[in-house]
Amino acid sequence: MARSPRWGLSGPPQETHRHWAEEQEVIGPGLQAVMLWSRFVVAEAHGAVLSDLDGNEVLDLQGAGGVNSIGHAEPTIVAAMTAQLRTWTAGAFGSQARLDMTRVLRDFLPDGLDRIQLYSGGAEAVEAALRLAKSVTGKYEVLSFWGGFHGKTLGSLAMTAGARKDLGPLPGGFMSAPYANCYRCPFKLRYPGCGFACVDHAREVVKQQSTGALAAIVVEPVQGRSGNVVPPPGYLTALASVADEFDALLIVDEMMTGFGRTGAPFAFQHEGVEPDIVTVGKGMGAGYPVTGVIASAETMDSAPFSDPSASSSSFGAFPMACRAVETTVSVIERDGLVERAERLGKDMLAALAPLAEEAPLVGDVRGAGLAIGIELVEDKESRRPVSTAVVRQAFMALLEAGVLVMTGGNALRLYPPLNIDETQAHEAVDIIRRTLAGLPGPAAGAEQTAGGRL
Ligand SMILES: Cc1ncc(COP(=O)(O)O)c(C=O)c1O
Repeated sequence: MARSPRWGLSGPPQETHRHWAEEQEVIGPGLQAVMLWSRFVVAEAHGAVLSDLDGNEVLDLQGAGGVNSIGHAEPTIVAAMTAQLRTWTAGAFGSQARLDMTRVLRDFLPDGLDRIQLYSGGAEAVEAALRLAKSVTGKYEVLSFWGGFHGKTLGSLAMTAGARKDLGPLPGGFMSAPYANCYRCPFKLRYPGCGFACVDHAREVVKQQSTGALAAIVVEPVQGRSGNVVPPPGYLTALASVADEFDALLIVDEMMTGFGRTGAPFAFQHEGVEPDIVTVGKGMGAGYPVTGVIASAETMDSAPFSDPSASSSSFGAFPMACRAVETTVSVIERDGLVERAERLGKDMLAALAPLAEEAPLVGDVRGAGLAIGIELVEDKESRRPVSTAVVRQAFMALLEAGVLVMTGGNALRLYPPLNIDETQAHEAVDIIRRTLAGLPGPAAGAEQTAGGRL
């Protein structure tokens, strides 16, 4: 594969592998597959560029799975976090950082969703959203969707696909229905002729399986782990009306999509639907572990969620977290990054779309803003998902050529920073196109190894 002049891995990864091996003497197993495959060790990170210990540079479109919204080491956040570190770090009393965050969020949060409670992990926020839905409705059942990802704690795991094997029993009260994944429609229908058969089916699942205690429908506006699957317009609105029919809440999990990633401040705003609860995280803190539950004041004022100490957590709303949110949102607004994500995302998607024709492995290319998915299939006719070995082979080929991506099942996922330099974005697209177009289909590639670094 022809290498671009600056990006990519060259030479044996000596220092990197020595470092990785020493870490593994203490670190437990089960890190993300892409980390285990690549054994990449970051020496320095700036914007969308990662340098490893052997002096290689790659374009980071993995972006910590959507966390790296404003670029690594963005100067404004470096300065703000450094100053905050010197001021106060531990405790959730009132602080200048929290007041500053409040002022910024007052403008950024959607109308009618003007209260936030902060946490430090995605699954933790999702669990808090479930507790809030139970508090509001006095009910306890939940409907979620095939292919969804909401975390790995007990309640969130019961809504998460592909991570539950051998971890049963899962808690009761959780039902699931097919997502509006048109590339893999289980009803073999086409939008719009289908009339949202998947939503009708979801309604039927509740009718047949519920004990009459549906508290919430939990849905991602774009399914991240399944490869940034974008449902057709009107899907969230249709689900909102199902939630209404059962007197349940609509929880939109924007962990991956919130804070500009899809070209709107929040992805549900593409539709004008009004969710009751929104969960957020990842891109809102630019790398600092901060997540949140957003709702109206009225929704959040429901006991027991609203009782003293009931919705708090050890690290929730610590000063560093508040400063991270305040600064990240300020940078997103100052630099017009929501609009940029929409425009650049459209350009990148248009440039990558031909892969569905020209690359033997690529079945579908889709996305919203700067959340782009490339689904790998055994053949374009059957659409059978490729094996993990083939995903790994594609991932390693891209890394060696200079682009680090995220994976999810049989898909490659791209999450560049919202402020990625345009030249770098186009270089990344060129590398991805060249590399994937040059990879053989699974049958021809079966004998090939997974890449030279393992
Ligand atoms: C939509 C969504 N919800 C929840 C989570 C869980 O977040 P965490 O891994 O921080 O627990 C994720 C993580 O990727 C996610 O994408």
